[in-house]
Amino acid sequence: MSDATSGADGSGEAATGGVEADGRSVLDGPVVVTGAGGTIGTALAVTFAALGAPLVLSDYDDGAAAVTGAQAMAAGAPEVRVVIGDAADPDVADTLVDACRDWGGPAVAVFNAGICVPGLTWEQPIEVWRRQVEVDYWGPVHGVRAMVPAMLERGSGHVVAVSSGAGLVAPPGMGAYVSSKHAVVGLMESLHHELARLGAPIGVSVVCPGNVLSNLADNSLRSMNVDPEDHELGGVAAEIDAVVRAGVDAGAAAQTVADAVVRAVRERRFWVLPQPEVGLGALDRYQRLADGRPPLDLLPPPPI
Ligand SMILES: NC(=O)c1ccc[n+]([C@@H]2O[C@H](COP(=O)([O-])OP(=O)(O)OC[C@H]3O[C@@H](n4cnc5c(N)ncnc54)[C@H](O)[C@@H]3O)[C@@H](O)[C@H]2O)c1
Repeated sequence: MSDATSGADGSGEAATGGVEADGRSVLDGPVVVTGAGGTIGTALAVTFAALGAPLVLSDYDDGAAAVTGAQAMAAGAPEVRVVIGDAADPDVADTLVDACRDWGGPAVAVFNAGICVPGLTWEQPIEVWRRQVEVDYWGPVHGVRAMVPAMLERGSGHVVAVSSGAGLVAPPGMGAYVSSKHAVVGLMESLHHELARLGAPIGVSVVCPGNVLSNLADNSLRSMNVDPEDHELGGVAAEIDAVVRAGVDAGAAAQTVADAVVRAVRERRFWVLPQPEVGLGALDRYQRLADGRPPLDLLPPPPI
């Protein structure tokens, strides 16, 4: 393991098997994963590693990134490079591109780093709002702005952003997260159309998982220097937080997401919904929109 710092559309109709013009598989090239030290990031890294891809892994948690790097090497990655840095920093996105240079540029980039800090929309402190949007929305923007030119230069590639089911429907109690994840869906869809108009051989995917078993909630609080033990929400916000945490605790394995991402890269699939119920929620939303009916709160009621 080396250390670089210091350390077609949703139908799948244009499926190419992820094979580049010169016959290489996109999975042979370097795969960049941000938030690689986390639950979904680790599953992504290990899954791409098992397919023999060299990896460039990034996280701001150096210890977590190093653990994932070791797991990826053990899983079969020929080489792993680690970039420690903040996904909200555009310079870090450029450093990730630089780390891929001697491999001909990034073949696949997965913008997975994210945080989700709970709270009612009007109560959430403005610095939490800003940080949430900087990481969850501006992170993928910086990623796209750095990776797409490098992939155009390479002549191929695939960019993937991990949004959320909360990018397709709008649960309460996480307005800054919902706003950011919706923006990521719009960003990637617009990018998809731009690259299609160019005829560029670069795939685009947006991933909208439902609940996935992870420590996202506590990790996100710690990232804001809040001890989860001391985080006190009151009233409705606390009820919603309890329901959300119960959902995540009963969530799918991160491997479900990683497998869906690899399939999407191979098949050049835009929409990646590892849990089909997320699509049903989105369908209901748009039916209500067309009918002029109010949106449905999809979170279960608080426990009695
Ligand atoms: N867990 C779920 O239920 C769920 C559902 C839908 C979408 N997601 C999305 O999946 C992604 C991964 O979440 P997870 O569940 O694996 O959580 P996680 O907390 O286990 O992993 C997130 C990782 O991102 C890193 N990270 C956070 N902010 C960063 C930053 N600014 N710069 C660099 N690294 C940063 C963290 O250190 C951590 O390693 C997130 O974007 C999240 O929004 C999660």
